[in-house]
This record gives sequence, C-alpha cells and structure tokens, in this order.
Amino acid sequence: MDTFDAIRSRRAIKKFDSSHRMSADDVNLLMELAVLSPTSYNQQNWRFVYTTDQTVKEKISKAARDQAQPKDGSLVIVLCGNLNAWKEDPLRYWRNNTAEKQELVKNSLARKYENSPENRRDEAMRSCGFAAQTIMLAARQMGLDSCPMVGFEYDELAEVINLPEDHMIVMMVVVGKRAEDAAERGGQLSLDEVFFENSF
Ligand SMILES: Cc1cc2nc3c(=O)[nH]c(=O)nc-3n(C[C@H](O)[C@H](O)[C@H](O)COP(=O)(O)O)c2cc1C
Repeated sequence: MDTFDAIRSRRAIKKFDSSHRMSADDVNLLMELAVLSPTSYNQQNWRFVYTTDQTVKEKISKAARDQAQPKDGSLVIVLCGNLNAWKEDPLRYWRNNTAEKQELVKNSLARKYENSPENRRDEAMRSCGFAAQTIMLAARQMGLDSCPMVGFEYDELAEVINLPEDHMIVMMVVVGKRAEDAAERGGQLSLDEVFFENSF
C-alpha cells in the first residue's frame, strides 16, 4: 500500500474483530514507527501506554463511556504528553550532534517552556497528534485499522493507566482488524473553504 492509499483508506472504525490478535512483532513495529514522528526541538515529549491485555482494554472501554472499540480492538495506545520533557536531560535529544548544538537546544527549550504551561500543553498536543497519525497510517500499511478517540472520562482513564502528575492524556488510538466498514464519510468541506492562497 502506498502512502496515498493509506491516507485515503484510513477511517475511524467503530466495529473491530474482537478475535483478532496482533503479534508482538507487529506491536513493536508500530512503536518503532511512532517514535519517528516529528517533535519540536526533537524533544520526543510523547509517552505511550499500550495494551493488548483484555482486562485492561475492558477497563479502558469503561472509561471511554462504554464505547466498544478499546475492548474489541487488538491494541490500545493512550498517547500522553510528558510536560517536563523539555527539562529532563535535554542534551540527549541532540546527542548525535555537537556540544554547542546541544547547549543551544537546551537553552531554547528552557526559554520556550519554563514559564509557560500553555506552551508545554500545546507541544504535547502537537507531538501526540503527529504520532497518532503515524500510528494510524502505519496500521493501514500493516493491513489493520484504527480509531482515534477522546470520548473518555479523563480522570478514570488516568487512573487506569496510572498517569504521572506531570503528564497529560492527549488521546487514544485503537488499532485492530475491522469487523465492519466505516459509514460513508460525514461530508468533507470543499478545498476553497479551508485553503487560502497566500493569506486569508
Ligand atoms: C481527536 C479525535 C477524537 C475522536 N474521538 C472519537 C471517539 O471517542 N469515538 C469515536 O467513535 N470516534 C472518535 N473520533 C473519530 C471521528 O469521529 C472521525 O475521525 C471523524 O468523524 C472523521 O471520520 P474518519 O476518521 O473516518 O475520516 C475521533 C477523532 C479524533 C480526531
């Protein structure tokens, strides 16, 4: 499958085949691909809680207001932002580069995030958004489907995954084999409503 086909055929699947299991190799491949997603300053501020465990998936379904996708999907990934990634040994984000570059990035990270909870939160949202799309497109290439989800009780899900205080949940992505095609697309806006050449 090429990239265009993966983009066009990715849909938010509502009914997954609950008998389908993903191999550990496939789960690992998805993880390896997910961490190639871009992050600002290469700070890699996403943290992923993943499970194929039926008991845990059922708890996640319950936190997701009894939506069936987590319990019927093969793999559930909860994408979280580490709001302190910017200051956790940041030189390692550029360890393949010069010491000067590493220092420069460390200082830039502090300038942008130290006094700004908004910037820390925005960055978590951006990084996890990219990672979610990487996971969903990679799943298509593997012959699998997905559903991105934010319909859950935040505190309940936080408890299920034992969310650290300085992390936030951004969304979850369920991966699995579709049992039913998605309904027809809701209705995409026309290009001229959303694209503006040169300026608004
Ligand atoms: C951030 C986000 C949260 C979503 N949450 C849910 C959800 O909780 N449950 C669900 O069934 N679908 C959820 N969806 C799926 C959307 O309804 C779906 O992506 C949208 O209708 C477009 O359909 P498509 O993804 O098949 O193109 C979510 C999508 C996004 C991007």
